[in-house]
Amino acid sequence: MASNTRLVTFLCLFLPVIFSSSTLAQNCNSDTFSNNKLYSSCTSLSGLSATLHWTYYSTNGTVDVAYRITQSTSTWVAWGINPTSTGMVGTNAFLAYHDSAGSLQIITSQLSSFSPTIANGSLTFTVYEMSVDYSNGAYTIYATLKLPNNSTTLNTVWQRGTSFSSGLPSGHPSTGTSSQTNNLNFLSGQSSSSGSGSSRLHRENIHGVLNAISWGILLPLGVMIARYTKVFKSMDPAWFYLHITCQCSGYILGVAGWGLGLKLGSESKGITQYGHRNIGIALFVFATLQVFALLLRPHKNNKYRLYWNIYHRTVGYAVIVLSIINIFKGFDILNPEKKWKNAYIGVIATLGGLAVILEATTWAIVLKRRSSEAKSPHGANGNNGYGARTHQFA
Ligand SMILES: *[C@@H]1O[C@H](CO)[C@@H](O)[C@H](O)[C@H]1NC(C)=O
Ligand SMILES: *[C@@H]1O[C@H](CO)[C@@H](O)[C@H](O)[C@H]1NC(C)=O
Ligand SMILES: *[C@@H]1O[C@H](CO)[C@@H](O)[C@H](O)[C@H]1NC(C)=O
Ligand SMILES: *[C@@H]1O[C@H](CO)[C@@H](O)[C@H](O)[C@H]1NC(C)=O
Repeated sequence: MASNTRLVTFLCLFLPVIFSSSTLAQNCNSDTFSNNKLYSSCTSLSGLSATLHWTYYSTNGTVDVAYRITQSTSTWVAWGINPTSTGMVGTNAFLAYHDSAGSLQIITSQLSSFSPTIANGSLTFTVYEMSVDYSNGAYTIYATLKLPNNSTTLNTVWQRGTSFSSGLPSGHPSTGTSSQTNNLNFLSGQSSSSGSGSSRLHRENIHGVLNAISWGILLPLGVMIARYTKVFKSMDPAWFYLHITCQCSGYILGVAGWGLGLKLGSESKGITQYGHRNIGIALFVFATLQVFALLLRPHKNNKYRLYWNIYHRTVGYAVIVLSIINIFKGFDILNPEKKWKNAYIGVIATLGGLAVILEATTWAIVLKRRSSEAKSPHGANGNNGYGARTHQFA
C-alpha cells in the first residue's frame, strides 16, 4: 500500500503540470490587422464566420474593437451593442458596405424595430473613432467606443445582408439570426507582448468549468465516498482507492483550472479579484498539503494515526467549504448565463441532500453495531476491525 500511495502522490503532483500547460496553450486565431494593431482578446462569433477582437481599458471604460467577417463586396455587414436588451431591437450598430459607386462606407445607426429604417445617425454611447477596410474578401470594422452604462458585460449583435434601400443597408435573411447575438464580457487587459490574443472569455469559461467540476463536485464527492462507504467492512480497501481516485482527479483538474485562473488574473490589468484570488491560493496550498499528507500517513495501528485523521479531515472539510464559496464568487465575477449557476446549485444541493441521508443511515449502522458489540464481549475486541472503524467514523 505504501508504494501505491507514493505512486498516487507522484501522479497527483505531476499530472497537473502537464495538464495545465496544455490548457494554457489555447490560442485564438491569428488574425492580423492593417495598422499592425494588437488586441488583447478575441472570440469567434457563431452563426457567421466572424470574429471580434478587442482591448478593454478599465481606466476610462473604453474598448477598441475590430470586427472581421468574410463577405462579398455586394454584402453589408454589421456589428453592434445592445445596451438595453438582448437581440436586435435596441442595438446600436456599426454598418459597413460598398456603396453604388463601389466605395467603402461605414455608418452608425440605432435599430429601433425588427424592420428598422437604417439612417446614418448617432449612437447612445460615445464613439471616438471608427473605420473600415476590406481586404482578402473580408470586412474589418474598427471602432473605439465607451462601453454604455459603465458596464463590461454587454449583449453584442452581428449580422450581414444583401438588401439595400435608398443606398443604405436594409434587410437580411431571417434564418438562423437568433444565434447572432451573445453576451460578451469585455473585461480584459493583456500586455501587448502576448499579442497572439487568446480568447479571454473562452479561457474564463474553461477556468470556470474545470474548477466547478474539480473543486466543486469531485472533491466533495470524494469526501462523501470516504465517509459513507468505509463503514461497510466489505468496502475496505475499495473505499480508499475510490476516495483517492476522486480526490486525485479532482486535484489534477483543479490545479489546471487554478493555474488558468492565475494566468487570467495576471493578464487583467487594473482589476484584481482579491477575495477570489486569495481563496484560490489558500485552496491550492491546503489541497497540496492533503496530497503530501498521504506520504506521512501513519499506519492504522500507530498511535499518531488518530491525530493524522483529525488533521486530514479538518483540512479536507475546510477545502470543501472554501471551494464552494469560491465557486459562487467566480459565478459573480464571470456572470455566465443563469442556467450554469442553477445547474451547479442543483448538483451541490443533491450532494448535500444525499450527505444528510447517508449521515443519518451511517450513524444508525454505527450505533447498532456499537450496541451489539457491547452485548457480545468478542465483538468489543478492537482487533476485529469494527472497533477501529466505528471509532474512525465518529
Ligand atoms: C483610454 O485609456 C487608454 C489607456 O489608458 C488610452 O490608451 C486611450 O487613449 C483612452 N481612450 C480614450 C478615448 O480616452
Ligand atoms: C444601466 O443599468 C441598469 C441596471 O444594470 C439598467 O436598469 C439600465 O437600463 C441601464 N441603462 C442603460 C442606458 O443601458
Ligand atoms: C454619416 O454621418 C457622418 C457624420 O454626420 C458623415 O461624416 C458621413 O459622411 C456620413 N456617411 C454616410 C455614408 O452618409
Ligand atoms: C465606472 O467604472 C469605473 C471602473 O470600474 C469606476 O471607477 C467608476 O466610478 C464608474 N463610474 C460610474 C459612473 O459608475
